Amino acid sequence: MPTVLILDDEPVIRDVLGSVLAKAGFVTREAATAAEGLERLAKEPIDLLLLDLMLPDRPGLEVLSEVKARHPEVPVVVVTAYSSVESAISAMREGAFHYLPKPFRNEEVVHVVKQALEKKRLVAENRALKARLNAPPGLKEIIGRSPSMERVFETIRQAAASRSTILITGESGTGKELVAKALHRLSPRASGPFVTVHSGALPPDLLESNLFGHVRGSFTGAVADKKGLFKAADQGTIFFDEIGTVPLETQAKLLRVLQEREFLPVGAVEPQHADVRVIAATNADLVKLVADGRFREDLFYRLCVITIPLPPLRERREDVPLLVETLLARAAAENGKAVPSVTPATMKALLDHDWPGNVRELENVLERALVLGHGVIDLDQLPDTVRRSVPRAASLPAEGLSFKDAVAAYERALLSAALQRASGVQKRAAELLGLKPTTLNEMLKRHGMLPRDVREPAEPEPAAPSRV
Ligand SMILES: Nc1ncnc2c1ncn2[C@@H]1O[C@H](COP(=O)(O)OP(=O)(O)OP(=O)(O)O)[C@@H](O)[C@H]1O
Ligand SMILES: [Mg+2]
Repeated sequence: MPTVLILDDEPVIRDVLGSVLAKAGFVTREAATAAEGLERLAKEPIDLLLLDLMLPDRPGLEVLSEVKARHPEVPVVVVTAYSSVESAISAMREGAFHYLPKPFRNEEVVHVVKQALEKKRLVAENRALKARLNAPPGLKEIIGRSPSMERVFETIRQAAASRSTILITGESGTGKELVAKALHRLSPRASGPFVTVHSGALPPDLLESNLFGHVRGSFTGAVADKKGLFKAADQGTIFFDEIGTVPLETQAKLLRVLQEREFLPVGAVEPQHADVRVIAATNADLVKLVADGRFREDLFYRLCVITIPLPPLRERREDVPLLVETLLARAAAENGKAVPSVTPATMKALLDHDWPGNVRELENVLERALVLGHGVIDLDQLPDTVRRSVPRAASLPAEGLSFKDAVAAYERALLSAALQRASGVQKRAAELLGLKPTTLNEMLKRHGMLPRDVREPAEPEPAAPSRV
């Protein structure tokens, strides 16, 4: 059942709207001031906001643009008196879905609210549909719609068909193994085996006997012939996880397999053949390892015929909401729980975090939150490291943005984040930002972010739109 927040300072109006909407089957929440309303929006999932433009603590239009900036997914219906049609028009321009002139008819309220929610639903559905159409079969486990991930998908599609060796690079948790498996699934070898080699922990001789097999009696303990992983991967794909950890002497043998397509089991005299496609992954900088003499240059060139660099999550933050939605749904299903909702404040923290552990870290954070939270994931269910992220700079939109505007937008984002965390107490917000309270006040004034009653009454400033 959708939840509607009624933000109006008049108790009578709140009562009327509340009962009309409740009768129509909506859950309602009420707030009497801008501060209260914004807090509610940050704390709980709200599907629609009914906003009175005449609020005691802040100009309604300013509240509207703040809501649009912080919670772009929440449709806003503006309620306003007949006399201020102009502000209603400005409201539409600021992104309100509709305005209801007072006095309003009850049916009209329900109709407009339903319309706005229907539009919201259609937009979301359309987005999901598009995503599904764009995702090629075999790639759907890999979540991402950002341009950098689109490039990854494109390379996977092109590379999968060939037999070329592929090198996947990327920080820990960026999905290297996931991509390796997708490459295999999309390749003509899909029905063959996919064999993973974790070279890291093994001493060279054990690694070699694992890879190439050995013949009986070739060393103490070799009581029978053993088939190696290369042979096991025949007609399929062999995946070298952390190729950078393969010891130098084994690298020479690996190079030979790549060049000659044949290998020598430990203790054998007859080389063996295997029809195998090699995929390697590394989170180490192989170029540097080559420079340091710890990785063979010739092997490096053999491996990187096709390279797929995976972007760290912090460089594709636009994928965070989709990842959260999908990973939560998956975790909920695995844990036999209902899919929880995520509060806007939580989503903001998730968007702001730098994710050194990338998607794996996000996955862990969500799983923990799912277990701790009861139907709603709020800031309390996030680890401190994620909750305390600093707000990041506004990213450059496609059509460009002047330096001054971008800096101003970032300043506003910082100010409003600090104010939010300080529950509106300016002195505390100034501390958080390491500013003098007077400096903070100056900046708030400059950005038109001061509540009305704090400004000097002598010169009423125009309400500067504070879009971020
Ligand atoms: N784009 C993605 N979409 C969905 N899940 C992802 C994505 N990237 C990574 N994951 C998930 O994150 C976890 C880590 O992924 P994976 O093991 O492939 O990373 P990795 O790059 O191999 O990390 P490492 O270098 O630490 O081995 C897995 O559970 C994987 O399913
Ligand atoms: Mg891995």
